[in-house]
Amino acid sequence: MKIKFIAHSCFYIEHNNFKGLIDPFINGNPSAHVDISEFKDISHLFVTHGHGDHLGDSVYLGQHFNPLTISNFEICNYLSMHKLTCHPMHIGGSYNFDFGRVKMTPALHGSSIQTDTGDLYGGNPGGFLIEIDGKKIYHAGDTGLTMDMKLLEDEHIDLALIPIGGNFTMDIHDAVRAVDFIKPKKVIPMHYNTFDLVKADPEEFKNLIKNSEVIILNPSEEIEL
Ligand code: NI
Ligand code: MN
Repeated sequence: MKIKFIAHSCFYIEHNNFKGLIDPFINGNPSAHVDISEFKDISHLFVTHGHGDHLGDSVYLGQHFNPLTISNFEICNYLSMHKLTCHPMHIGGSYNFDFGRVKMTPALHGSSIQTDTGDLYGGNPGGFLIEIDGKKIYHAGDTGLTMDMKLLEDEHIDLALIPIGGNFTMDIHDAVRAVDFIKPKKVIPMHYNTFDLVKADPEEFKNLIKNSEVIILNPSEEIEL
């Protein structure tokens, strides 16, 4: 399957008819070099939490391209009010979709939804463990280091997408500890250098990881998994 790093925490996964986009922060994203119309064929949209750099263009994408949107119950309620087709889940819950299995994982973070009239409650923030055709991908969302990550070791994750930018999430040193807990085969760092508050050197992260393969992607680069 194809895993494309769009920018920040936004990834595109394609495998046969499955065309999934995670945390679609595209318009207004200073690192993203894609036009949102590139995603007109998406089948699924995943949203880890309500913050603007993750919820991003979900409403636009949902209204124009009609993917099935997977997120927590509260964000699904919000997006359903905007006429999106949603599948609500919550932390610890799993579900077998036609493309594979999805489990929502905990994240230590916030999840409010910013609107013109103030913040809305966005439930608990999370991450996604996505299993497609025998491959397991973990998108951590925005999170600090948690002991819960140790539980993911038993999942034998093929690819982990891990924030390293600090300030709002784990920094490099905590991300290294997270990778040691999770023990994925491959890691792609995310959520860094998009803004001044999340500056980090991915090469420093890569040099500190000994037992997983670290793949540093520039925006719009992709790998085959
Ligand atoms: Ni956030
Ligand atoms: Mn964020």
